[in-house]
Amino acid sequence: MTTTAITNIGSLVTNDPSVGDGSPLGLLQDATVVIEGDKIAWVGPAGEAPAADTAFDAQGRAVIPGFVDSHSHLVFAGDRTAEFNARMSGRSYSAGGIRTTVAATRAATDAELEANLVRHLDEARRQGTTTFETKSGYGLTVADEARALRIAAAHTEEVTYLGAHIVSPDYAEDPAAYVDLVTGEMLAACAPYARWVDVFCEKGAFDGDQARAILTAGAAAGLIPRVHANQLSYGPGVQLAVELEAASADHCTHLTDADVDALAQAAATTVATLLPGAEFSTRAQWPDARRLIDAGATVALSTDCNPGSSYTSSMPFCIALAVRDMGMTPDEALWSATAGGARALRRTDIGTVTPGARADLAVLDAPSHVHLAYRPGVPLVSAVWQRGVRVAGGR
Ligand code: NIG
Ligand code: FE
Repeated sequence: MTTTAITNIGSLVTNDPSVGDGSPLGLLQDATVVIEGDKIAWVGPAGEAPAADTAFDAQGRAVIPGFVDSHSHLVFAGDRTAEFNARMSGRSYSAGGIRTTVAATRAATDAELEANLVRHLDEARRQGTTTFETKSGYGLTVADEARALRIAAAHTEEVTYLGAHIVSPDYAEDPAAYVDLVTGEMLAACAPYARWVDVFCEKGAFDGDQARAILTAGAAAGLIPRVHANQLSYGPGVQLAVELEAASADHCTHLTDADVDALAQAAATTVATLLPGAEFSTRAQWPDARRLIDAGATVALSTDCNPGSSYTSSMPFCIALAVRDMGMTPDEALWSATAGGARALRRTDIGTVTPGARADLAVLDAPSHVHLAYRPGVPLVSAVWQRGVRVAGGR
């Protein structure tokens, strides 16, 4: 197998606290990383690196693990510029806007949906994302949900069944019948393509009892729960996520002390995934990352990329928001966007730069990862390796 050495790394984030400065980021200065096939083969001080077949000179710049975007909604058609425009003119966000995208998605061909997905994935990859989760949820019929997941599954192993995004407009008069569909025929058609089951537990979407029924049925079909919880208001989502040992409770914007305690107690099981792009794009209150971290919760950062509430594919943008407005340090935000995302996806092979891990890396046009927050909006990702293959950049 061919080996490639990335040499002359000024500052390397390994996310392995047993190396380098001993911090959670395991920072190494003057480092080399050797890639063999699709895996990291060696990490250490430049002077001790083994020989490799080819070399890439990082020229003293920073290298980080590829971002793990553990929450996105990328199988969709159309756009919601008008809704965004109205919001920025003072209207408030509600779950109902999802219906606009449902109509456009149902009307699109498979090829259109796939091309749109690929376009957004390429965009994310150029910004350093090497793993992404994505969801259904803009079809809301058996056939449309199943095709969304089938299309997603061709591009990632992290696929989430979100038939319970909102009650389908076709069932507006009979939400209970829609829950029956989501837990019955639709689940049976979707489960073969998905690893996860999710529900939007929120006023205007699904209440706690409905969410419990949906997640429990998903788990019985072999899917692991994750929950859209406490985004727009206080509610039962976080407690339900913890009770059902969901991999993540996502959003976590409106939390009681009991919610924070529950997430702290469940830190080894249920990750609090914060999605600052949504608060940015809906002009909502920021999630309090500092409160969660200080309580002992495990925090991930993700884009929530979707055409309604958070139309960004940029993990660096989310890092900058989290540092500026959610009380995270640059180190914490970098960890949450890489190792934290891996925890939210229950993956041990990504999110770190350690021997045996997947060779997913980003080179930054900067001396350290801190610049991701220090220089917001600047395209600092200059080269990306995914499974050992250089997929973007190359400077
Ligand atoms: O994560 N919360 C629910 N789902 C998306 C919004 C999707 C939309 O508005 O289209 C979210 O914010
Ligand atoms: Fe979402």
